[in-house]
Amino acid sequence: MPQNVKDITVLVGSLRRDSTSRKTALALSALAPDSLRLDLVETGHLPFYDQDFDRDSAFTPDSYRTFRDRIARADGVLFVTPEYNRSFPAHLKNAIDIGTRPYGKNVWSAKPAGVVSVSMGAMGGFGANQLLRQQLANVNMSVLQQPEVYIGGADKIFDSDGSVKVEATEAFLRSYLASFASWSDRLALAA
Ligand code: FNR
Repeated sequence: MPQNVKDITVLVGSLRRDSTSRKTALALSALAPDSLRLDLVETGHLPFYDQDFDRDSAFTPDSYRTFRDRIARADGVLFVTPEYNRSFPAHLKNAIDIGTRPYGKNVWSAKPAGVVSVSMGAMGGFGANQLLRQQLANVNMSVLQQPEVYIGGADKIFDSDGSVKVEATEAFLRSYLASFASWSDRLALAA
């Protein structure tokens, strides 16, 4: 990867095949400026967090090691999530928890983060978005505050090939990515 290109991990909060969140994540990846490379990383296979896994490194699942290393290497993380009962889905919380342990080795800390919530409803996953922001503050991520992204009516914005067919939405996603790129640059300069 060229030196000035940032490696951004994308975590998707839905596991289902036709997920609109996944489509949104893939669209963001396709629309990203040259300065960002977006890479989707899976979280659905990670076993539920059990502190005994970290009692001794011999008990730590390989999937945890791989996931933690991948996040540690990333220059930033984008979370693209649906809303489940006014919050974000459990496997995303599990992934966040895994990244904060063993104690003192929080792989999320100080990384730039973005939150995109996606819903077929009109509220665009507002509850999931807000609770995820609260969670990311707790794990010491630097979350881009504005613009906020609530994608509503998500079942109506994609073509069959996955591209965004609503021009205004595509333009908004591009401008969001530009904001995220400059946010990541500013944090890297300040570090
Ligand atoms: C939902 N859904 C939902 N939608 C919403 O806008 N607010 C909500 O609180 C909930 N709650 C909820 C709970 C559970 C258990 C499920 C399975 C679903 C609907 C949900 O957003 C919808 O299924 C989306 O399509 C899921 O996103 P993906 O899979 O398309 O990315």
